[in-house]
Amino acid sequence: MSSPQSTPHIAAKKGQIAERILLPGDPLRAKFIAENWLTDVQQVSQVRNMFAYTGKWKGEPVSVMGTGMGMPSIGIYAWELCEFYGVQKMLRVGSCGAYTDELKLLDLLLVTNTWTDSSFAQAHSGVALDTMAPTSALTNTIKTTAQELGTQLREGTVHTSDVFYHGPEFDFRNVYQEHQALAVEMEAFALFYTAAKFGREAGALLTVSDSLVSREALSTEAREKAFGPMIELALDAICKD
Ligand code: HPA
Repeated sequence: MSSPQSTPHIAAKKGQIAERILLPGDPLRAKFIAENWLTDVQQVSQVRNMFAYTGKWKGEPVSVMGTGMGMPSIGIYAWELCEFYGVQKMLRVGSCGAYTDELKLLDLLLVTNTWTDSSFAQAHSGVALDTMAPTSALTNTIKTTAQELGTQLREGTVHTSDVFYHGPEFDFRNVYQEHQALAVEMEAFALFYTAAKFGREAGALLTVSDSLVSREALSTEAREKAFGPMIELALDAICKD
């Protein structure tokens, strides 16, 4: 029997995905990044419209692919990227909702730890794990690159949640107080967990798109404005070393 050319969820052939990859949640963001920042771009997958592209940033090969929303979705892609394509560095570029008024809309947050109330790790390997940190090498590179670029960065823990629309019983202030989670998103824990299983690097950079404190949310235009500096920082940082 011949070995498979691709995976159940990614149509790219082996070798068509770079060792470094940016992972936005939205596949149309992946397309936007590929078209606006990368050169020599080739679309390498469109299974389920979860577009993936490979191109170059300042001469270095880099890929970008959507992950979908939530840990089950990013868990599938991260696993296949590591296991089949041999990806070495994965950087999530996404958005988050602030749990504290110290974080303002448009702020850029570097994730230094995650706390989760999800059963992702339990379901995966029967372990009761509720925190996962990004790898320190990539995270430190993002910090030094931000200093070089003059990009303001906040740092801290995020809550990786399975739920976007919580019931009235859920009070985000408890998560903020008990776990020092500055913001909420839905993927980073699973990305870091999967990367750790393969001994690969992973990190996450998030733009604050809404606030659970003030109940404000960014307009679509404001989101796009915030997006540029985050992508440049992400590409410069992931292409170092
Ligand atoms: N909740 C969960 N994930 C998010 C949010 C939110 O409010 N904003 C951006 N990602």
